[in-house]
Amino acid sequence: MITIAIGKGRMQESALALLAQAGIRLSDDAVNSRRLALIDEAGQYRFIFVKPADVPVYVEHGIADCGIVGRDVLLESEADLLLPLDLGISRCRIVLAAADADAMTKVQGMIRVATKYSQIARAHFGARGIPVEIIQLSGSVELAPALGLADMIVDLVETGRTLRENGLTVVEEIGESTGRLVVNRASYQLKADEVSRLLNALTTVKQ
Ligand code: PRP
Repeated sequence: MITIAIGKGRMQESALALLAQAGIRLSDDAVNSRRLALIDEAGQYRFIFVKPADVPVYVEHGIADCGIVGRDVLLESEADLLLPLDLGISRCRIVLAAADADAMTKVQGMIRVATKYSQIARAHFGARGIPVEIIQLSGSVELAPALGLADMIVDLVETGRTLRENGLTVVEEIGESTGRLVVNRASYQLKADEVSRLLNALTTVKQ
């Protein structure tokens, strides 16, 4: 049996839907329960549901053989993983946003950027030689400019509704994120048959 770590929240529903299309199903009872470790109906896969940022940790340490997680999370992680498949699910943009589309030219002094994605933000400004103060938050980042904590944010945008309803607009596009299948390096060798069966099943249904 192989273990697959799934990030709870945004990615969970589309990951389970894609797995179901690939013939790997969890019972409705299991999905609706609060259990954080579940076996699929055919008894071939164990699923663990963890915080998205912890998926790379579980997979790198071999507690999970595979994981499904967003590129946004992987860009923040230093875990050493195999990244064999872009699943195309949960597509969203990673953007720099502010109250004013011209914010880059208007901020006086050092730009303060609030984000859950400090590595992505640092790399984005670092590549252009612009010094910034990164303010690390854990969520609800869109509040930071209105409350005076930051001049801008780096965050994910899916529908754009959260930005809009908090008076923010995209200043720059930084990148795109989709759900990825990641694999533990040892599992890729030691459980080659099971991992390639999963890879083949997901390759036929990926979006
Ligand atoms: C993400 C992101 C935005 C929102 C964007 O938040 O950080 O807040 O989704 O979606 P939208 O463009 O469709 O409005 P998430 O649900 O992951 O929660 P959190 O950032 O508050 O933890």
